[in-house]
Amino acid sequence: MQLPDENIEYNFQRLLAPPSEAWTPLAELQSQHLVSADRLEQAKKLATDIRGQVGAERELLNPPAKLRPLQAGFINLPQYLLDQFKRKQDASEVGKILRISHRMREDVDRVIVLGTGGSYLGAKALFDALCHTHHNEMPAKLRMQKPRFYFHGNDFDNDVLQDLFELLEETCVEPEIFEERWGAVVVSKSGGTLETAAAYRAVKTEAAKFYGPKSAMLKNAIVPVTGPKGKLRDLCRAEGYTDDEILNIPDEVGGRYSVFTAAGLLPAAVMGLDIRAMLLGAATMTRRFLEEPFDRNPVLQFAAINYLMTEELKKTTRVMAVWSRKLEAVGWWYDQLLSESLGKHGRGATPLTVVQPRDLHSRGQQHQEGTRDKLINNLLVKSVRHPALMVGMSDRNEDDLNQFSRKGFPDLLDASFKGVTEAYADVARPTADIILPAITEHTIGQLLQMLMLATVVEGRLMGENPYGQPGVEVYKSNMARQLKATPNLPKGEVRDAAKGV
Ligand code: PA5
Repeated sequence: MQLPDENIEYNFQRLLAPPSEAWTPLAELQSQHLVSADRLEQAKKLATDIRGQVGAERELLNPPAKLRPLQAGFINLPQYLLDQFKRKQDASEVGKILRISHRMREDVDRVIVLGTGGSYLGAKALFDALCHTHHNEMPAKLRMQKPRFYFHGNDFDNDVLQDLFELLEETCVEPEIFEERWGAVVVSKSGGTLETAAAYRAVKTEAAKFYGPKSAMLKNAIVPVTGPKGKLRDLCRAEGYTDDEILNIPDEVGGRYSVFTAAGLLPAAVMGLDIRAMLLGAATMTRRFLEEPFDRNPVLQFAAINYLMTEELKKTTRVMAVWSRKLEAVGWWYDQLLSESLGKHGRGATPLTVVQPRDLHSRGQQHQEGTRDKLINNLLVKSVRHPALMVGMSDRNEDDLNQFSRKGFPDLLDASFKGVTEAYADVARPTADIILPAITEHTIGQLLQMLMLATVVEGRLMGENPYGQPGVEVYKSNMARQLKATPNLPKGEVRDAAKGV
């Protein structure tokens, strides 16, 4: 396995208020909006103490009521999976994921991932970050048996889902032709999420129409990923899946912390990604979190700084500014992680993902001169995958770009970053940087684990339980009541999602 030896880092130096000798308008702003040395020292100590608690929570089999729900299983999971794979190979969880993913890649050329929240955002983040930007449009030969991917089951959009069916009906006619065969991965830990369950029912109907309801290909084309119990597991068992054919999301891992369970790993393996490198990155981050002092510990640094900024300096909007479009879905994944984990009891920062420099032309004005309620965490990538694309010389030069002819696109991006960072610093707008050496399975593994661990530490610093999402449960039960009260559609004018199965 080829791995870069560089680690990801968090650089928050610009957030620290410089000691000022004389009063100036800027020094005044800095003292109000940046972190003082005293505050940092206190937060360092607090975060380092909390690390001990979070570490100990991994071992609690029977947690006290005040810690419930407790789902700390994600912390050790990457290393556990790697060790188990080493010992048991094909009989391990990773072995099973690899086996099913190989079969799926041989069987189908399109995969629909059905899931919502934590049961889809991880897979979507991995797909966008690590697969070709135009993966689905690449010819099959160039994709090298990596199927095209579609993400559904996260809304109730009548037209979007039926647009998908239209696409499948138009382009997938002959199940004997590999390029026309499609399948689905249905992910729901509880098995009771209506968005996913309703879409699954409809997708199964489409699959049964395509393969034939009794075809052996039909069962192989759909892979369920779910918790140890629940309606989806019951349904799949009733459909003839053995427990060995159903991939598991362990009870002790919460939905939004489940990217390194089969919920993220199976789609990733089908995408052809190196899931062991990803797990190794995540396991490395856990080790750094548990063992490194604050100054070399990006988890503690990120948690402490973001906690201070939100709780003490009232920077209640937390912007994840990604400097590669490939990381936008990582931002959405973090939006969910932060919102559901810490948005409780009238508290918690509001996350916002922006792609730079694209959104400098939309939100930039507000971030530069608007409400002073923001902390900007840049997500930077040090090296690019392709050689630098130069601006180049043009004969006529109407656009006046010849002066930059020997600059590359990475130089343009760097100038944009430096330009906006300087503009923010000049008016004491707080910014910090998460730095990725490159976008690889190994660094993305580190990044996702870092953000999950930091969210737990931040929750504990705030005195909020980072697990569970009681507010969402209220939405779910209200929706069920509303739906029961909704009049039934008249037969005949509708497309029946279950017709034929
Ligand atoms: O973090 C969570 O637990 C939630 O966001 C869930 O992932 C989301 O509600 C989907 O739940 P399920 O996997 O049970 O369908």
